[in-house]
Amino acid sequence: MQDDTSVMNHISLRPLTTADAPRLAHLGNDSLVSRYLSERFPYPYHPEDAIAFITKVRSGEAGIVLGIIVNGQLAGTIGLEDTDVPQVKRIGYFLGRDYWGRGIATQAVRLMVHKAFSEYGCRTLTAYTHAQNAASARVLEKNGFRQLPGPPSESCSCRTPGPLVGYQLHKEEIEA
Ligand SMILES: CC(C)(COP(=O)(O)OP(=O)(O)OC[C@H]1O[C@@H](n2cnc3c(N)ncnc32)[C@H](O)[C@@H]1OP(=O)(O)O)[C@@H](O)C(=O)NCCC(=O)NCCS
Repeated sequence: MQDDTSVMNHISLRPLTTADAPRLAHLGNDSLVSRYLSERFPYPYHPEDAIAFITKVRSGEAGIVLGIIVNGQLAGTIGLEDTDVPQVKRIGYFLGRDYWGRGIATQAVRLMVHKAFSEYGCRTLTAYTHAQNAASARVLEKNGFRQLPGPPSESCSCRTPGPLVGYQLHKEEIEA
C-alpha cells in the first residue's frame, strides 16, 4: 500500500503562504473534515479564516504547520504544536475529503515524524484522536504510535462530543 501510494501520488510538505488561503478554505469548509477537529478549526470555514490562520502560522504563533502537497496541489495541512513539556510536541493533520483513502495521511505523518525528530528537536510526539475517528487512529498506528492506557489528560474540544484516545511515539522507537 505504501509503495503504491508513493508511486501514484507525489507527497511532500511545504510552508503555507497567503496565496494558499482560497484552496485551504475550499479543503477545510467541510463538516466531515471538521467533525473530529478542535473547535478552533471553524465551520463553516471561510477564506478569511484561512488567511487569519496562515498569518498566525507565518508569525510563529501557531506552532509548526506545513501544507500537505499531493502532485503539486495543496491537499491539507499537518502541524506540530508545543506542549507544556520541552521537546514534546503534539501532531495534528487534515486532508480534503477528495484525498481520503489513498494512504496520503499515512505518508504525510511519516514525513512530519521524520522532520520532528531530525529538524525540530523533538524527543516525543503525542496525538489525540476522537474515539470514533478510526481512520486517524489507523494512520497513527501505521506510523508506530502506541495508544496510551487510560483516559488522556486532554479534554475533548472537538465539534463532535466524545472521548479522546491518546497516542505517543518516542524518537528511540523510530531509531530502533
Ligand atoms: C483522518 C484522515 C487524515 C485520514 O487520511 P487518509 O489519507 O484517508 O488516511 P490513510 O489512507 O493514510 O489511512 C487510513 C487508514 O484508516 C483505515 N480506515 C479508514 N476508515 C476507517 C474506518 N471507518 N474504520 C477503520 N479503519 C478505517 C483505512 O483503511 C486505512 O488503513 P489501511 O491502510 O490499513 O487500509 C482524513 O480522513 C481526514 O483528514 N479526516 C478529517 C480530519 C481528521 O480527522 N484529522 C485527524 C484529527 S486527529
